[in-house]
Amino acid sequence: MNAESTPQRQTPDSLMLYGFWYRALPSGQVTRNRLQKAMLLEMPLVIGRDRQGKAFALRDACPHRGMPLSCGRFDGQQLECSYHGWKFDAHTGQCRLIPSLTSDQELKVDRIYAGSYPCEESDDYVWVFIPEPSPPGAGFSKAVEPSFAAPRVPTFGAKYKIAYLTADLPCNVDHGIIGLMDPAHGPFVHQAWWWRSRHSIHEKQKNFEPIPMGFRMSAHTPSSNSAPYKLLRLYADADSITTTIDFVLPNLRLETIRAGKYWFSSLTTVTPITRTHCRIDVVACWNIFRWVPFGPALLKFVFAKFVEQDRQTMENQSEGLKHNPHLMLIDDADRPAKWYFQLKAAYLESRSNGAEMRHPMSGAVTLKWRS
Ligand code: FES
Ligand SMILES: [Fe+2]
Repeated sequence: MNAESTPQRQTPDSLMLYGFWYRALPSGQVTRNRLQKAMLLEMPLVIGRDRQGKAFALRDACPHRGMPLSCGRFDGQQLECSYHGWKFDAHTGQCRLIPSLTSDQELKVDRIYAGSYPCEESDDYVWVFIPEPSPPGAGFSKAVEPSFAAPRVPTFGAKYKIAYLTADLPCNVDHGIIGLMDPAHGPFVHQAWWWRSRHSIHEKQKNFEPIPMGFRMSAHTPSSNSAPYKLLRLYADADSITTTIDFVLPNLRLETIRAGKYWFSSLTTVTPITRTHCRIDVVACWNIFRWVPFGPALLKFVFAKFVEQDRQTMENQSEGLKHNPHLMLIDDADRPAKWYFQLKAAYLESRSNGAEMRHPMSGAVTLKWRS
């Protein structure tokens, strides 16, 4: 089969992947005295912070009759449902009290659970672990702790700045992700006098290699047609600037730029909110321009501009996607998008048959495109 050379018709399947950590909310939005609503993978959540400041995440529906727990009261330890006053432990979801029970009624309150999800904070975000959904009709029990920690932005020293950006995208998670790894839109979407012009388009060649659950654009010297990279080369006085970009399932894009003792590192996620909406969150850490007064503001400006250009593009694209047009992915520019779909399919297959995941790439590959 020669699927690599012919344009491939492919429609994103918008299947959401369970069994992973997802960014739910920026930490700063979760305060001690307020319950916050959040939506992840079409699941409504209520997120809060206990008296000690530790974050928790519960399903935003009471296991009794479905009232959103976010309508209830929180005393810093237990949530009380606003409908019949059942009380639940914020971290485990275990029921602590059913006020309507009389002393001779023997319902085992502590066997009842509200849905609760493992919760971690890293890089100024609250991350929530979303397990495989339980079969329809099954109630909740104690949440199982995941076997791995929430992802973090890689850092290369103790002193650095950190900043984040977030934007809602009116498209399913697959379009959000392949938009993120698509090299060919740059000259058309990301034009700015200080970045690059559309006429700077030229042939590029990049090496890719398989990594667990994903692929890596191997360390390379960034394209010379962008002003900030030229500036960085001057500033860092480094002979070599290298960039490495990783994509890892379900939704992680890690980019690391190193120039001598300076580095810039980011972790971007595209999180499924519903089948038709996703959210992009970029967290960046850097020690470049740390002492330049406007350095962080400048970097944030550049990043915000890019994210806004992508968001605007996807908003327009969603108009075109409304009526299910036929789509295609071409080589080589869309090969990363094909790998994404293949990785996703391989992951789902390994989940369903219990076998080890078969990586779609058998070794390193060089891709060429113009951008
Ligand atoms: S619906 Fe929550 S206590 Fe009844
Ligand atoms: Fe982009």
